[in-house]
Amino acid sequence: MEGNMEIIALLVILMTLTLTIEAQQFSLVHKYAHLEGSPANTQGQGVSPEYSALLKAHDRRRLDAFFPLGGSADLPIGLYYTEITLGTPPQNYHVDVDTGSDVLWLNCAPCSNCPLTTTIPGITLRHYDPTLSSTDTALGCTDANCAVASYGNPGQCTVSPPGACAYSIGYGDGSTTEGYIINDIITFHDSATTTAGANIYFGCGTKQTGNLLESTSAVDGLIGFGKAAISVPTQLANQGLVSHVFAHCLQGDTVGGGNIVIGNITEPGITYTPMVPGTHYNVALQNIGVNGVNVTDPTSFEITASNEGVIMDSGATLAYLIEPAYDQFVAAIESGAPVPSERISDGNGGYDLCWSYSGDIATTFPSVQLFFDGGAVMNLAPTNYLYLQAPTSGASAYCMGWKASTGTVSAPGYTLFGDIVLKDQLVVYDNTNQILGWKPFNCSQPIPGV
Ligand SMILES: *[C@@H]1O[C@H](CO)[C@@H](O)[C@H](O)[C@H]1NC(C)=O
Ligand SMILES: *[C@@H]1O[C@H](CO)[C@@H](O)[C@H](O)[C@H]1NC(C)=O
Ligand SMILES: *[C@@H]1O[C@H](CO)[C@@H](O)[C@H](O)[C@H]1NC(C)=O
Repeated sequence: MEGNMEIIALLVILMTLTLTIEAQQFSLVHKYAHLEGSPANTQGQGVSPEYSALLKAHDRRRLDAFFPLGGSADLPIGLYYTEITLGTPPQNYHVDVDTGSDVLWLNCAPCSNCPLTTTIPGITLRHYDPTLSSTDTALGCTDANCAVASYGNPGQCTVSPPGACAYSIGYGDGSTTEGYIINDIITFHDSATTTAGANIYFGCGTKQTGNLLESTSAVDGLIGFGKAAISVPTQLANQGLVSHVFAHCLQGDTVGGGNIVIGNITEPGITYTPMVPGTHYNVALQNIGVNGVNVTDPTSFEITASNEGVIMDSGATLAYLIEPAYDQFVAAIESGAPVPSERISDGNGGYDLCWSYSGDIATTFPSVQLFFDGGAVMNLAPTNYLYLQAPTSGASAYCMGWKASTGTVSAPGYTLFGDIVLKDQLVVYDNTNQILGWKPFNCSQPIPGV
């Protein structure tokens, strides 16, 4: 199988090296979209209390990941998935999209522990099978690239297949993936007429555990958009195929979805703030305004040895504010709200801060302004901090989607803006220029890129 195929593989590699890939557009689907607004759960009136508990559980799991103990690469699970094409002949795979982690891996045959079924509509699970692709090449554990590709486990050799470059990743919820690193061609469809490919390293995952096996959320793997050398955007940029830039637009209605693009963005009028050094996509927040009045103590957000700046993370669903900024922010929202707040059970033993309200929140609840370094302002609507919680009985309530991050000595509090803040905007991660930008955008439209 290998002989002739190696020549073909080489030709494909040579061809792809001469290409500069156009900005690559992927459409996104919200992984839990099928749980939202479904008549059975919510009478079509928003997020059920059970769903709210699910969202918080998801973020709780992921938040552990930012402060890993014992130096393991604890990384989170993403909430959105997209479809990628790999191998020859090309096959499609559904993968979680996550800006908070780095590695692309797929459930890989032969597999000792992989999910066999998923209840996500429209997805049939498919394992990547190296014996069925004519363009795959193994990466040996003594290869210099193994140090980069194996991501924290340099030079570990697998027993089966013998001498392959092992990888293993632990996620914040305790789930794990392990296997070996392989190289194959990822194919992009720019348009109906053009196709481009590139060789990339990714994980052939032969043993997954925990939530990665759950049929309610199982997909074919995960694609990390982080900063490390092994992430797909970094690999493509290092090959000179595309700029080290990507952007996403997360659609905010109950349908979810949106787009993510790798490559330069041509949309004008984007507001940028400098990225600050950190493990994730960190930026410097100065203050939070409510109806145009600054309400937080700016020293809350100061960058220190234990605080790398605020984190912009599409893999998280909600937002988290460090104290005392959280209490100051919530007090300002409560005093600007049209009705008094109340505490409503989240159906899982916890309580949410909510407002029973039937009016138009867009015109009655306060607007919010985030002030970042360099004079960059992000203007937020009430839908960027409230979510509709459908009642099991009685009136609908809007609940606070920003939570307090209290922290402990070993895991200090932090400020993180997840999907609730980032949605309905074009968000650009420009690693070339070390800037992060945004602009209000209709996420059902394609992202303009070159
Ligand atoms: C992308 O933008 C950078 C400037 O940030 C520019 O130097 C580069 O040539 C652009 N690349 C493409 C492919 O347009
Ligand atoms: C709020 O704080 C930001 C950042 O320090 C500042 O640029 C802005 O002028 C302040 N707004 C008001 C109304 O004081
Ligand atoms: C967003 O774009 C879609 C598709 O073009 C369009 O149907 C919709 O009306 C737009 N929404 C807004 C708020 O402009």
